[in-house]
Amino acid sequence: MTRSLQNRRILLVIGGGIAAYKALDLIRRLRERGAQVRPLLTRGAQEFVTPLAAAALAGERAHTDLFDRAEEADIGHIKLARDADAIVVAPATASLMARMATGDSSDLAATVLLATTLPILIAPAMNVRMWQHPATQRNLATLRGDGIRVVGPNDGAMAEAEYGPGRLAEPVEIADAVEAMLADVRPAPGFGFLAGRASGNGAKAGPLAGRRVLVTSGPTHEPIDPVRYLANRSSGRQGHAIAAAAAAAGAEVTLVSGPVSIPSPADVRLVPVETAREMLAAVEAALPADLAIFAAAVGDWRPAESHESKLKKDGSAPAPLALVENPDILATIARRAEGRPRLVVGFAAETETVLDHARAKIARKGCDLIVANDVSAAGGVMGGSANTVHLVGRDGTVETWPTLDKEEVGRRLIARFAELLDTPSTGP
Ligand code: CTP
Repeated sequence: MTRSLQNRRILLVIGGGIAAYKALDLIRRLRERGAQVRPLLTRGAQEFVTPLAAAALAGERAHTDLFDRAEEADIGHIKLARDADAIVVAPATASLMARMATGDSSDLAATVLLATTLPILIAPAMNVRMWQHPATQRNLATLRGDGIRVVGPNDGAMAEAEYGPGRLAEPVEIADAVEAMLADVRPAPGFGFLAGRASGNGAKAGPLAGRRVLVTSGPTHEPIDPVRYLANRSSGRQGHAIAAAAAAAGAEVTLVSGPVSIPSPADVRLVPVETAREMLAAVEAALPADLAIFAAAVGDWRPAESHESKLKKDGSAPAPLALVENPDILATIARRAEGRPRLVVGFAAETETVLDHARAKIARKGCDLIVANDVSAAGGVMGGSANTVHLVGRDGTVETWPTLDKEEVGRRLIARFAELLDTPSTGP
């Protein structure tokens, strides 16, 4: 284990909820990496874990509302808000997010979060429907706009026997996100307020520092009428993981995404779209870029006609659905005479003879590299968390990678593309 957070001081705000017990493991993970952790428990958190347990694991006193109101003079909330390198909120409940988004300061945790200028990372965890509620999504957008970073939530089975996004990110993922956030914040000498918020302190470090990266992700929705559309099973996880890795590598990232139910990664400019034609327009508007990665599962066809009002059954046979072809976004950009990104990467989602199709696709589309994967149902790639990819170069060379989770695939792809951008030739 590398001491990658050596001497970093983290204020860990533990929110209420069943996932609070995982915050104890997070304390352990952060300390393994060398961080000093100071826990602060909300009243709700104390229903699930005790301040004593958090303090014992952290090796520091745990702060709670009750205690600190009484001893404000001793360790005031302003000092708590400053005396660290970063604040991590895990689990971030719907209520804590709402309080942060509205600037409410009705308890110690919210007060500290309002009084701080430190970089903040939140790890939301809540019931699926609470996460998907427009109010929570609105708060999330506000918090992102305020420069707050977000990790998770992950998909999974929830305590209430429901399935979907809402599970707290794993402690290791949260610790990784803390590292990424602090990578461009210098350690605070003395008080944390000397370190600026990560997203606001100018030039970023990393192998893609100073580069502009464009990523497409997710499916497209092609409307049939106001309530129906043609779509596919893409979750957006691979494209979003690539965008996250590019941002962590210091790039200025634009993520053009079709409709997905996963959160946008921290530190990327998200352009949400629905149809292939909207995606093409958004991609063209986002140029110039040094690197463009087309990970979206763009619908090849759209209904020839999109009806303005809902189609009704009229007792006779259903009308046949006529389709027309969508523009090929990857080929359009790869074949641009002017303003073509230096490195253009396509994906090939295949269900058979993966490599033959990928080689043909690279020639047909004019890109520099294809990341090919098998999306047949047996592989579970579409919507799943792991991926087995083959990197196919313009000269037909192939590199096959082991099965990895999509986040790791994203990081390795970005590391590879950064190398290629730094060398004159562009093969895998
Ligand atoms: N792509 C795109 N615009 C489209 C279709 C595909 O930008 N209208 C991009 C995808 O983002 C991906 C690559 O092209 O990077 C390959 O997509 P895929 O659907 O696998 O290939 P197709 O071109 O659709 O070929 P086929 O249907 O024959 O497999």
